[in-house]
Amino acid sequence: MQIFIEKDYDAMSVKAFEVIKEVISANPNAVLGLATGSSPIGLYKEMVKDHKENGTSYKNVKSVNLDEYVGLGEGDDQSYVTFMRENLFNHVDIDLSNTRLPNGKASDLQKECDDYNAYLDSLQIDVQVLGIGSNGHIGFNEPGTAFDSVTHIVDLTENTIKDNSRLFNSIDEVPKQALSMGIANIMKAKLIILVASGKNKADAIKKTVRGKVSEEVPASILQRHDNVILICDKEAASSIL
Ligand code: F6R
Repeated sequence: MQIFIEKDYDAMSVKAFEVIKEVISANPNAVLGLATGSSPIGLYKEMVKDHKENGTSYKNVKSVNLDEYVGLGEGDDQSYVTFMRENLFNHVDIDLSNTRLPNGKASDLQKECDDYNAYLDSLQIDVQVLGIGSNGHIGFNEPGTAFDSVTHIVDLTENTIKDNSRLFNSIDEVPKQALSMGIANIMKAKLIILVASGKNKADAIKKTVRGKVSEEVPASILQRHDNVILICDKEAASSIL
């Protein structure tokens, strides 16, 4: 694992952007694995800025996202598909038909997971962007998720519901379930970039980098991937300094 410790969130975002830009420059048909949440917003801002200033094109890029809340989808403010459109897709020249997230409003959620998984199996993710939960989750793979898991329906933990409630009007509005790529899907990416910012990630980062590889800390599996770049700000890195 390569580790970069940057002075703050903005510097973390610029570093992550440099890695993504290198991938897209080398391969304009790259497949990007994308995440939502606070951690990659700065990265997406850098990608949009670069697209506008330097014309970097996403015309032939494909994207797949890690996850989506059950019950939310297109047209819902809090859905991850809306997040991706507002933070990235609407501001670059990516073809929306080349972007895909699990559909949290599918009538048959298990079939949606199976279809999403078949789609993932038909691709090779060139670079997967990850954030990390304060409990060590990646995607919505909560502690205890099998390392060989593929796209599945997740019951979110109280911890995650509480962490994510900041983005909803009240904690009661946070969906209790999500659809998420599994750990095995994530581990198939050629390159993984994990971005982490803030003190509340420090313990999870320590366990990810230095802890025992255990299903109790989903991100610890990254120790077994041979091409991971961890980019932290100082606060998130405070327990490994
Ligand atoms: C989001 C995702 C989650 C987040 C994690 C951190 O698509 O898969 O694993 O990356 O919950 O969220 P933030 O960045 O909001 O702290």
